[in-house]
Amino acid sequence: MKRPFAELWGTGSYAPPRVMTNDEFSKFLETSDQWIQERTGIRERRVSSKDETNACMGKAAALQVLQETGLTPLDIDAIVYATASPDRLLPSQACDLQAILGAKNAAAFDVIAACSGFIYALSTAEGLIATEQAEHVLVIAAEKLTSIMDWSDRTTAVLFGDGAGATIVRKSTNGRGILSVYLKTDGTLAELLYRPGGGATHPPSEELLKDHSYYIKMAGREVFKAAVLSMADACDHALQRAGLDADAIDLLIPHQANIRIIEATAKHAGVPMDKVYVNVDRFGNTSAASIAIALDEAAKCGRLKPGMVVMFCAFGAGFTWGSMVVRW
Ligand code: ACO
Repeated sequence: MKRPFAELWGTGSYAPPRVMTNDEFSKFLETSDQWIQERTGIRERRVSSKDETNACMGKAAALQVLQETGLTPLDIDAIVYATASPDRLLPSQACDLQAILGAKNAAAFDVIAACSGFIYALSTAEGLIATEQAEHVLVIAAEKLTSIMDWSDRTTAVLFGDGAGATIVRKSTNGRGILSVYLKTDGTLAELLYRPGGGATHPPSEELLKDHSYYIKMAGREVFKAAVLSMADACDHALQRAGLDADAIDLLIPHQANIRIIEATAKHAGVPMDKVYVNVDRFGNTSAASIAIALDEAAKCGRLKPGMVVMFCAFGAGFTWGSMVVRW
């Protein structure tokens, strides 16, 4: 058996309407619009309200893709949900979505791979299709990162945003679909980007609340260097596994963490910036959701057309990283 086994069918996304600009941060943090734009390329991000839960955002993205494909919730055999900021720790976020969508026939589970989550989830969905365990897999990538970031820490608060994206993975038609996948992890570097408290080792306590250790902590400079190297490694391997040169890539959709990382990745991969989809300026880093949101935008605005070859690549906490080449 040879790839493609599975294709991505339709897209959807959701972004909270509340736009937060960089200038708003400078009212309560020692930072500036200039610093944030120069170091990250971010101009603004979306911030969810209390009522816009992770599940609500996931549902909004899911309803769009269901409408586009003409499927109903009962047609979904599995829900694979990529998130690092679930509404609660048990059960999984996917179970809540299964309930509120009424997707009674679907098995549902989460994939936790931080910013690489969408690629990991797509790869999992591909496996379910290839082994004929499912006909239609709903892949959701959604984050409510603003609820787990430290609003008093300028080194992380200015980076993140909220939102959701969705697609359906089904059996490949007409040679379209996933041409290659490359997934990697280095768990020895976990503590460069993590949430130290709030889990079973350090359960919620007053001390934990005081020292903010339930929020995301990041050694930005080290993460930056690792992200550039890892995303380059991911692109090389995914291209090699697809048997393609960089020239064959019509569109690169990298994880949207920082414009400097995106530019370095594109340069290494040999893809010119006019073939790179960028929306980090408008959304900031939405972790697992970032490629999914960008994919939906690219498909809806016509940047991505049927038959084109698109490459995704991502890097995130874990460290996890990966890449995927898809014929759209
Ligand atoms: N405003 C003003 N100054 C700031 C801010 C801010 N918001 N944040 C940090 N600084 C200061 C620092 O304190 C430091 O000051 P010092 O020199 O006096 O010590 C100075 O700016 C430089 O800090 P660096 O950390 O070296 O800045 P850098 O150029 O590396 O940019 C950044 C920081 C934007 C975080 C960058 O390192 C980065 O993008 N890292 C990667 C993030 C990433 O890709 N994450 C991906 C995964 S996220 C996930 O998985 C959930």
